[in-house]
Amino acid sequence: MTKPRHHIFVCGSFRMNGTPQGVCSKAGSMQLMQYLEEELADRGMGDVAVSATGCLKVCDRGPALVVYPENWWFGRIDSEEAIDGVLDSIEKGSPIEKYALA
Ligand code: FES
Repeated sequence: MTKPRHHIFVCGSFRMNGTPQGVCSKAGSMQLMQYLEEELADRGMGDVAVSATGCLKVCDRGPALVVYPENWWFGRIDSEEAIDGVLDSIEKGSPIEKYALA
């Protein structure tokens, strides 16, 4: 595999100190990863990698994810529509405001 052009890190609420899982996984962030992977394949976006990550410390605005190297942070990613918005952002080169975190 070649290095991806983009990498999406989806908050899986993992925490080192063993505290209970945060809001993102409870709100279905991990379940949406399957849709995310399928949608990337459908769109032919083979240069985008996806990984689950620990708590991104924006729990009050979760489910959250980050897109690198753009350093775009998105919140309230709790639906297929929201995932579509993130992928549209990558394709267009501009982050969708509806879900963008300042
Ligand atoms: S649990 Fe996702 S940002 Fe904290």
